[in-house]
Amino acid sequence: MHVTIKTPAEQDKMRIAGRLAADVLDMIGEHVKVGVSTDDLNTICHRYITEKQAAVPAPLNYRGFPKSICTSVNHVVCHGIPGERVLKSGDALNIDITVIKDAYHGDTSRMFFAGKASVQAERLSKVAYDAMWLGIEQLAAGKQLGDVGHAVQQHVEKNRYSVVREYCGHGIGRIFHEDPQVLHYGQEGTGMELRAGMTLTVEPMVNAGKRQVRLLPDGWTVVTKDHQLSAQWEHTILITESGYEVLTLGADQR
Ligand code: MF3
Ligand code: CO
Ligand code: CO
Repeated sequence: MHVTIKTPAEQDKMRIAGRLAADVLDMIGEHVKVGVSTDDLNTICHRYITEKQAAVPAPLNYRGFPKSICTSVNHVVCHGIPGERVLKSGDALNIDITVIKDAYHGDTSRMFFAGKASVQAERLSKVAYDAMWLGIEQLAAGKQLGDVGHAVQQHVEKNRYSVVREYCGHGIGRIFHEDPQVLHYGQEGTGMELRAGMTLTVEPMVNAGKRQVRLLPDGWTVVTKDHQLSAQWEHTILITESGYEVLTLGADQR
């Protein structure tokens, strides 16, 4: 396991990349509406990242991924590929943005709704959001990764939803997916100890039904096996001596 500790100068670059990724999500919200395709959203984000931010959309060509963002609609768990699909009222989707600026990555995702969200989708999204924050609130030098996973899992399961196990959070920096793996389940007081200067993501995928997933033949799109809804939120975070600094807050939370 090779975990990188970021120097103060590197931490500044991570702050910049994180802010840019969050800015893309702030920008795209008003474009998520009935009638737009997920590829339209991809095009808008691609242009914003490359032209306005002079940054690089990390997903594009990452291990062969064909687009600049991930759009995961309804029962798609993660890594949905933008395409012709046009949003209809009630669709719930995760938009996952990763930008590279000055060689450093910022990675963040949020849930959005087209038209009117169902009560069920709203509730699932809120549980995933709260679970992400409960996980983040565990972060500090000296805490362990199992503390994070446990906090996420207990909140999700208390609400009778399930945590996806096959995909996890990750260290992040010059490399998109670095060590360590940040599992969204586990036991307190287990796992790697956190140190100040580490940067990682917390990004729980929460299923309304069973936790099992299936990979579609496109090699990317992950769906729930039972076709029930899934929701996800993600932040990139810097570990500090006293706790954490979230690098991908939206403008309304800064
Ligand atoms: N942004 C995703 C994550 O949170 C990874 C997407 S990889 C891609 O780790 F190739 F699908 F873009
Ligand atoms: Co990530
Ligand atoms: Co992401």
